Amino acid sequence: MNIFWKNKKILITGINGFVGGNLASKLIKNKAKVFGLVRGSDHNSYLYYENIYKKCKIINGDLTNKDLLEKIIIENKIQIVYHLAAQVEVGVALDNPYDTFETNIRGTYSLLQVLAKNKKYIKSIIIASSDKAYGEYPKSKLPYKETYDLRPKYPYDISKAAADLISQWYSNLPNKLPLIVTRFANIYGPGQLNFSALIPDIIKSALGYKNFIPRSDGKHKRDYLYIDDVIELYLNIARKLYKNKTKFSGEIYNAGTNNFYQVKQVISFIYKKLNNEKKLKQIIKKMKNKKTKGEIFIQSMDYKKVDKDFLWKPKINFKDGIDKSIVWYSKYLKDNS
Ligand SMILES: NC(=O)c1ccc[n+]([C@@H]2O[C@H](COP(=O)([O-])OP(=O)(O)OC[C@H]3O[C@@H](n4cnc5c(N)ncnc54)[C@H](O)[C@@H]3O)[C@@H](O)[C@H]2O)c1
Repeated sequence: MNIFWKNKKILITGINGFVGGNLASKLIKNKAKVFGLVRGSDHNSYLYYENIYKKCKIINGDLTNKDLLEKIIIENKIQIVYHLAAQVEVGVALDNPYDTFETNIRGTYSLLQVLAKNKKYIKSIIIASSDKAYGEYPKSKLPYKETYDLRPKYPYDISKAAADLISQWYSNLPNKLPLIVTRFANIYGPGQLNFSALIPDIIKSALGYKNFIPRSDGKHKRDYLYIDDVIELYLNIARKLYKNKTKFSGEIYNAGTNNFYQVKQVISFIYKKLNNEKKLKQIIKKMKNKKTKGEIFIQSMDYKKVDKDFLWKPKINFKDGIDKSIVWYSKYLKDNS
């Protein structure tokens, strides 16, 4: 436990999501006062499954509702904000870019405008951008560095890049908010219940709860970051910014493992681990010549800058992270089947 967090008043947008639920859990363990914005009545989340919601103040509403955001921030004297709420599904964004832009872009500037107007107690704002905001660079440019230009091509990626740039502006004059933008690699681990994401989808199917339907030939490569590493870094970043706005405000941080795995490798790894080799062969066969649209081919994130500023390195290697994830999903899927 770190006493810094005791009684700190923290707002998490997207608390009902994967990262938000895990973050709330850790902050509560550190005795912070956590307020969370939740849209809709979906209780099928880490926040509810692990009973974390009982120790937070949950407020229902939409990110684009400025009046509501203002009320939350003023009434609760919010000091730290983690902005995680977003429409994160790449496929949904391709089919319906409007709603993705509304939440990811308008939602972000609505929140920032309210924060700029009511910044009396605000000491630290963390904006979750994404590795996808960079768009695609050739393999020779891997791992991606914070200095690379954002050049996204697809709707989700564009929405994250737009929110990222808008946030940077708010950290500069004339509105100067204490703000850091994070661009993390693919996050995985307990609590990710978006089963269109690769790792939950594979684990669920390898455990026999569904059939795995390949969306590509499996040659895409991604950098995978375990959730506990992300949460540790998120706490670190917000605390340092709180204590030293001059040094950290306006900074951008990538995090990843500097490494990547091919989608096909991830599928094989999990299926073999769960002794499901017969199914694996059928899947590999189905993947042949399957083309995907609207996705970046290869990405990995450089973590030199976070290491330098926050002494952070990913601690959980991919194999251990997958083991921990399988244990959690096995229980969750059993409880919910
Ligand atoms: N998971 C990853 O691999 C990853 C990697 C890099 C960056 N990120 C970013 O981190 C953040 C959190 O990701 P996650 O995986 O927890 O996503 P998630 O989908 O699990 O959680 C997002 C939450 O935002 C909520 N939300 C969506 N639209 C809203 C709106 N208009 N008003 C209020 N709430 C709304 C959703 O209901 C959901 O609970 C996102 O901003 C995402 O872009 C995620």
